[in-house]
Amino acid sequence: MIIAANWKMNPPLAEAGALAAAYAAATHDGVTRVLFPPAPYLVQMSMRLDGSGVLLGGQDCHQADSGAHTGDVAASMLAACGAGMVLLGHSERRQDHGETDALVAAKAGTALGEGLAVMICVGETLDQRAAGDAEAVVTSQLEGSIPPVVTPDRLTIAYEPVWAIGTGKVAGVDEITAMHAAIRNWLAGRGLGQVPVLYGGSVKPGNADEIFAVGDVGGALVGGASLKAEDFDAICAAGARAAAICASA
Ligand code: 13P
Repeated sequence: MIIAANWKMNPPLAEAGALAAAYAAATHDGVTRVLFPPAPYLVQMSMRLDGSGVLLGGQDCHQADSGAHTGDVAASMLAACGAGMVLLGHSERRQDHGETDALVAAKAGTALGEGLAVMICVGETLDQRAAGDAEAVVTSQLEGSIPPVVTPDRLTIAYEPVWAIGTGKVAGVDEITAMHAAIRNWLAGRGLGQVPVLYGGSVKPGNADEIFAVGDVGGALVGGASLKAEDFDAICAAGARAAAICASA
């Protein structure tokens, strides 16, 4: 199980250190934890998490190696600050910055070239789901956002229905089961059948066990609940329970 914390543009630096220290103090068998903090916090979080087993990632990177791109962050800079992974194609970047599948694929190609692993986000809007297009939208995002150079050991997919992010609405178990099966099927057809597929969107301590019981769910990408140490810890504990059930099956 992979449980990843996407802090987005939170919290204040004064709280971030204590939160990372709480992550570092916990352990959960069978769970790989990843923290995606804001880029300016990477070096400090890297020091806080040193030796804890919690992996560090950037929330985005530029598609170019370096150059005149004011305000952007290069993949090599993330790596130099202690990140081993980068989150790409989050729906907030697709919406706020007009990121296309082709741009996400270009960023992923650059990040892989710098030795980073990539976690690529996909997910449909409520209108797309209502129109019956959810699976077509998601498979088209997979098709366009995953660069051909990727190897299964350096790719993770996060399925995050846009309508479930930050809304408190969680996709139903049937919806998650169907979409994860469709994603798994698409990945298997490209020799990427072993790639973990995470669910994201209002994952909380109260719903994590149910979500992790879905066979094809390999963990969670957690936003709001990752900002509370005890909530993130409870979600990781649910991940450890799911990993234990999986190992004994
Ligand atoms: P919430 O957990 O706050 O819904 O956010 C999900 C998300 O976007 C993680 O990347």
